[in-house]
Amino acid sequence: MKLDYTFMTEEAVEGGIGELACPSAAFDSVIGGMGKGWQQWCDLASDEEIEKIAEFSAPICAKSDSVVVFGIGGSALGVEAVANALLHLHHNELSRAKRNAPKLYVEDNVDPDRMSALLDVIDVDNSTFIVVTKSGETSETLSQFLYIYDLLKRRLGDSSKEHIVAVTTIGKGTLYNIAQREGFVTFGIKEGVGGRFSVFSPVGLVPLACVGIDIKALIEGARRAKRYCTQKENNPALIMATLSVRAYEMGRNISVMMPYCDSLRLVSDFYAQLWGESLGKIKDGSIKVGQTPVKALGVTDQHSQIQLYTQGPLDKIVTFIKVKHFKTQQTIPSNEGEPSFLMGKTFNELIAAECDATAFALKKAGRMNMTLTIDDLSAGSIGELLTVLMYETAYAGAILGVNTYDQPGVEEGKKATFAMMGRAGYEEKLKEITAKSGKYISEN
Ligand code: PA5
Repeated sequence: MKLDYTFMTEEAVEGGIGELACPSAAFDSVIGGMGKGWQQWCDLASDEEIEKIAEFSAPICAKSDSVVVFGIGGSALGVEAVANALLHLHHNELSRAKRNAPKLYVEDNVDPDRMSALLDVIDVDNSTFIVVTKSGETSETLSQFLYIYDLLKRRLGDSSKEHIVAVTTIGKGTLYNIAQREGFVTFGIKEGVGGRFSVFSPVGLVPLACVGIDIKALIEGARRAKRYCTQKENNPALIMATLSVRAYEMGRNISVMMPYCDSLRLVSDFYAQLWGESLGKIKDGSIKVGQTPVKALGVTDQHSQIQLYTQGPLDKIVTFIKVKHFKTQQTIPSNEGEPSFLMGKTFNELIAAECDATAFALKKAGRMNMTLTIDDLSAGSIGELLTVLMYETAYAGAILGVNTYDQPGVEEGKKATFAMMGRAGYEEKLKEITAKSGKYISEN
């Protein structure tokens, strides 16, 4: 893992950041909080826990047609980011023999067409449904679970329970109660591990192991990153957080995450949730803070958003993610009839050059940017990368002085949904919602 932040500094970019002083109070507060309260995500799974999950998952990986994850937000985005990074880019389209694992579907929406489309492509009777919800109450996840469990019971009777795995808080919530009553295999989520920081808990590890991902190597990468993300010097997470917050204070209200690698496309979604939900807060009762995360993909978005990033408002920073060694190497063949400078070069060289070229073009236009380079697309490197992003967010929250771990804005929406869907106990909320008068354009 290498962080190059030259183009964030005033030496390279006009209007860049001067001397970089990492705030030691923020560092001390993150380090002091590790393993306590909401920072229990810093305590990574033990070898014993990993072994238990791997053992449970092996038969599912060997036999299931599909593994379907029902979860949303932090209960889905980590799994999606890791799976997209490590599985074949067209994993579900490969034959079973080539995949050597079940197909994977992470269903994080309640669009009715999506549920019906899912049922068209999986063998329901031979699939495993992993229901992930820390609260055990989230409407989206519960409704998906209720739908599929009813279908399974009608098709398979008593054995339907063998197709459901619950990942939730032990002893609390609707999903836990149902799981106990029905006898589902259940994995617990620790009280002090919030959704967006839970990818290395059973939330991420159970589904990932079920599709054959080496969760031991993933955690080893996370352990490696934890070592350098908790040291005072040469700590990429602390430096990135300090630079981002400094840039935010200088009016860069937007933080673009732009991997130059399709396998890392969903790492941007993972980052967007971490950054947005953790840092977008009201501080000290009235000060509204937070840098808006934007997801982009190199080189694709060079032909879409880069014009705006280069010449539009001076309100963004960009973090590029590069990969030193892709899974494959592809060479552009020679064509003597039409000689081209591209001949004999590799796609690998081209994508790397395009990333560096974009970073240069942005810095030339006075736009701050930094580049994080990972070695390869192995489980260890992905474990490292996601850990760096989680520590970066923790440090940024501490520097900004916000509560990184709550999400009152999300909770309000969840409660309003309960009210609108007629849940008992939310009658007052429903009155509050319906009391509002609206302005409408009548249907045309
Ligand atoms: O990061 C978070 O805490 C949220 O995004 C939650 O993960 C999301 O709202 C889902 O919550 P739950 O796991 O309780 O269903």
